[in-house]
Amino acid sequence: MCGIIGILGSHEVAPMLVEGLKRLEYRGYDSAGIATINDGVLDRRRAVGKLVNLSDLLVHEPLAGKSGIGHTRWATHGGPSATNAHPHQAGPVAVVHNGIIENYKELRLELAEAGLTAQTETDTETVALLTQKHLNEGMAPVEAAMATVDRLDGAFALAFLFDGEGDLMVAARKGSPLAIGHGNGEMFVGSDAIALAPMTDQITYLEEGDRAVLTRAGVEIRDEAGRLVNREKRTIKMDAARVDKDGYKHFMAKEIAEQPTVLSAALSAYLTETGIALPDPGVDFAKVDRLTMVACGTAYYACFTAKYWFEQLAGLPVEVDIASEFRYREPPITPGTTALFVSQSGETADTLAALRYCAGKAERILSVVNVPESSIARESDLALPIHAGTEIGVASTKAFTCQLTVLLVLALKAAVDRGRMTEDQLQDVLASLRALPGTFNAALGRGDDIRDTAHELAEARDILFLGRGLMYPLALEGALKLKEISYIHAEAYASGELKHGPIALIDQSVPVVVMAPKDSLFEKTISNMQEVMARGGKVVLVTDAAGASIAGADAWKTIVMPEIREVLTPLLYALPAQLLAYHTAIAKGTDVDQPRNLAKSVTVE
Ligand code: F6R
Repeated sequence: MCGIIGILGSHEVAPMLVEGLKRLEYRGYDSAGIATINDGVLDRRRAVGKLVNLSDLLVHEPLAGKSGIGHTRWATHGGPSATNAHPHQAGPVAVVHNGIIENYKELRLELAEAGLTAQTETDTETVALLTQKHLNEGMAPVEAAMATVDRLDGAFALAFLFDGEGDLMVAARKGSPLAIGHGNGEMFVGSDAIALAPMTDQITYLEEGDRAVLTRAGVEIRDEAGRLVNREKRTIKMDAARVDKDGYKHFMAKEIAEQPTVLSAALSAYLTETGIALPDPGVDFAKVDRLTMVACGTAYYACFTAKYWFEQLAGLPVEVDIASEFRYREPPITPGTTALFVSQSGETADTLAALRYCAGKAERILSVVNVPESSIARESDLALPIHAGTEIGVASTKAFTCQLTVLLVLALKAAVDRGRMTEDQLQDVLASLRALPGTFNAALGRGDDIRDTAHELAEARDILFLGRGLMYPLALEGALKLKEISYIHAEAYASGELKHGPIALIDQSVPVVVMAPKDSLFEKTISNMQEVMARGGKVVLVTDAAGASIAGADAWKTIVMPEIREVLTPLLYALPAQLLAYHTAIAKGTDVDQPRNLAKSVTVE
């Protein structure tokens, strides 16, 4: 969470910093700020709220200078306010930070004894104060910053700027990502390459513990032990860095609509004309005894869906867990276990920590990620990109369906490797899978029914989602999507679990969304739907034509999806779940792409 940027430029940097921050706003958006050096003098501007407030402030109180740092914040320590906004300045040093400094309270006490007292509630200010202390003790700026970094516990990506030093920036990374950008007589730092895309496509990713000293002439990188290191410079594909809405009102709408295209991209990455092809070194699931899958949020629901696939298709025992619980539970990792981590960003702190817990214990570490350069991808034995393209909307949509696609391909491979599926059966499923983008496109054309239903859902205070089998994880995802962008309380239950308690919630004011394609469990789910209706519950039935002909007449609203093979239903039924959330949020007038309290990339635990 939080996005940082730094520029040693050859033009005025304030507009470039703001442009970079705009591209990082998905990482947090409760306040923003920049600091620049003009004629050797360090100065800063900060504003609470969205980035536009900082832009407005800069119109009235511009900042000149060709060197600068910037920050967009997702508050951890100290509420959103202009005072708590970054950059934090202590005397001659300004700092921007992404992460959490865990020992900031001890450092504060030590600093107070030295007469340096904090003015804000943040952990980051301690970084600036400690550097000031080191400068006061006579250290040079680089030495002072390094001495500070040595004292920090926790997770951080940091950039330091010093008064009187217009051609110097110090950066450090531990636990939070940081990219160095190489320009022509200019140098950059950013939380990701997207922030730097308008300025350069030449990127070096810092590794864990790295510190970098930047001047306009270049960068010197040292590892945690202080050894000079060479980190690869890569050319980043610019199309991956595009962040346009392409005429859509919201990124979320664009990303929902893009799904047929990105699903095709994911499929062509893993399917050949004759079968399945994984990148080297591949996986032989015949040698896997158990699969442990770990992720957070929507990515966790993708794993949960895949559990059904791996178990039913491949007979492979699967354990699925939420990363924040897994990492501290000390789960035993038995021999023959392969661990699989799913993450859109590839930087989620809990998922990364869970991966590190498994490293050296599990037979192999696999990951399914959207950002191939991310920490999770780099620390895996095999990283499988989902090819969803940049996802900006905070509510994950296309990344979810692309994660599902890659996980299904893996489950099919497991089924073949383990002798549970014949070549003919595989080809049959693959034919349906190849047709998925077209079916998805057809379903997109049915959005009007969903919009009308969503307008009615917007009146509700609580909404329940029900599903059985493959539709249960999807019901959970539908409820998550709805609550995060519409702020309506939504919960999901396995349909069969309803009578064990949650049915007490049902009355006429609680709409119940029942995800029920006409699959092998349809009749059972419809019985549960009848139980809801018998208690006055208003059912929104999401089904196909066959299901609608049987149960549609009883429901309050029916949303009809195209027919699809049972194993693929989670992929297609993700769409109505996404559109219900999207249109409900629109009807409620919430900020769809940047819902309150959230950030896209959760790099703190
Ligand atoms: C919800 C959503 C989050 C993420 C979760 C994990 O719409 O996007 O629940 O799925 O924060 O993020 P990644 O996939 O980046 O690890």
